[in-house]
Amino acid sequence: MSNVSADLVIVANRLPVDRVEQADGTPGWRTSPGGLVTAIEPVMRANDGTWIGWPGGTDAELEPFEADGMKLVPMTMTQAEVEGHYEGFSNGTLWPLYHDLVAKPEFHREWWDSYVSVNRRFAEKAAELAAEGATVWVHDYQMQLVPQMLRELRPDLRIGFYLHIPFPPAELFQQLPWRRQLLEGLLGADLVGFQLPGGAQNFVRLVRQRVGHKTHRDLVYLPDGRTVRAAAFPISIDAAGFESMARSEPVAARAEEIRTALGNPRKVFLGIDRLDYTKGIYARLRAFSELIADGHLDVEDAVFVQVAVPSREQVEQYRILRDEIDRLVGRINGDLGRIGRPAISYLHSSYPREEMAALYRAADVMVVTPYRDGMNLVAKEYVACRFEDTGALVLSEFAGAADELRQAWLVNPYDINGMKSALLDAYRADDRETRRRMKAMRKTVTQNDVAAWADSFMQELSAIPGSHGKAVRP
Ligand code: G6P
Repeated sequence: MSNVSADLVIVANRLPVDRVEQADGTPGWRTSPGGLVTAIEPVMRANDGTWIGWPGGTDAELEPFEADGMKLVPMTMTQAEVEGHYEGFSNGTLWPLYHDLVAKPEFHREWWDSYVSVNRRFAEKAAELAAEGATVWVHDYQMQLVPQMLRELRPDLRIGFYLHIPFPPAELFQQLPWRRQLLEGLLGADLVGFQLPGGAQNFVRLVRQRVGHKTHRDLVYLPDGRTVRAAAFPISIDAAGFESMARSEPVAARAEEIRTALGNPRKVFLGIDRLDYTKGIYARLRAFSELIADGHLDVEDAVFVQVAVPSREQVEQYRILRDEIDRLVGRINGDLGRIGRPAISYLHSSYPREEMAALYRAADVMVVTPYRDGMNLVAKEYVACRFEDTGALVLSEFAGAADELRQAWLVNPYDINGMKSALLDAYRADDRETRRRMKAMRKTVTQNDVAAWADSFMQELSAIPGSHGKAVRP
């Protein structure tokens, strides 16, 4: 692969594939976890882009390579950088701060230093690979300084930034000792995209208050004459791809197999999340178990399948959460299960997309109850897979997806009794009711897929006045 002249460069903390050790000890590649990768992959392919990111781990230098037709440029991190930039500032400071302080963020100066130097290295690599006037699209909270660093190196570029997680209100953001640097980092972009209008408004307000720039609605006016636009672009999924996977014969057969293995209960509840404290897994399992203990549900009729995808396992808060969930599931099954009938079927593992599609097909009630979530693509994937208009979605009001999926059974995840009644309503709802709701949600998801998302971001990016660089067609 040539090392120069890409018209579209994606900069993200992660590559779409992770370096892993296979069973026989040799290195291999596996799709990375999380929503970001799912969303950007199709855009990359359509534009013949180059993707700069970390392949996980602390391997020695890896050469650029192609995977599934994508040009990938691996950025290595040292152990100190993994601890400072990734586990530390990104996931010990920013992640909890941007998710409503669901956990307590920690502020450490050495973490910040590491964040700055990793951002600089990514910016330098993008500057090296981008063609004259190219578009560079920077992604997510791990890379918020890249836009400004990159603009200083390459003023000819058109730079977009997209934040996949919530952008917090000023009252929380201003706790950050480095709040001004982060805002200025983002202002290096021509367009800063958020999941919801509220995030864009929070950002503009902070820029006015903390950096002192003039703003009007969604525009920021910089002293050098440049303007930066902040706007919402709710992300989505490859809806048609999920639907056709769900319709396929092997997935149908696997869905049957799953239901049989579960003992053919009347209804299957399902949760699929990265094992993260923002996802509300503990409260949701408690709500379900109380319905059994209260006698509203019986383990002969209902089972809860919870898939928890291992995530950020070196970060303290995630270890604590894992122990808590392990204990809770053990206690619930010990107290309420019968032989061959656990109340909760708990899987701590990650699965290929086909298996996810089979689970979505097998589930009658999908339960998505984060305390705070940028969007939550699992909710949309479930809807996309329900091509027969059956199945109920119980969805947290605090997931970005709730803005679009209004016909879900919406819940406040802090309200256990409220969640219990929503779970029960969804369980008991008749066919007409679930169909009506699912049909409306399916319309929303199929009409606003990930291609439309990328398309609108790219179009807005090329329309920014005063921006340099050629437009890239999504
Ligand atoms: C979320 C974030 C992504 C992140 C993913 C997986 O979706 O928005 O930026 O890549 O989680 O988390 P990880 O820490 O494994 O990259």
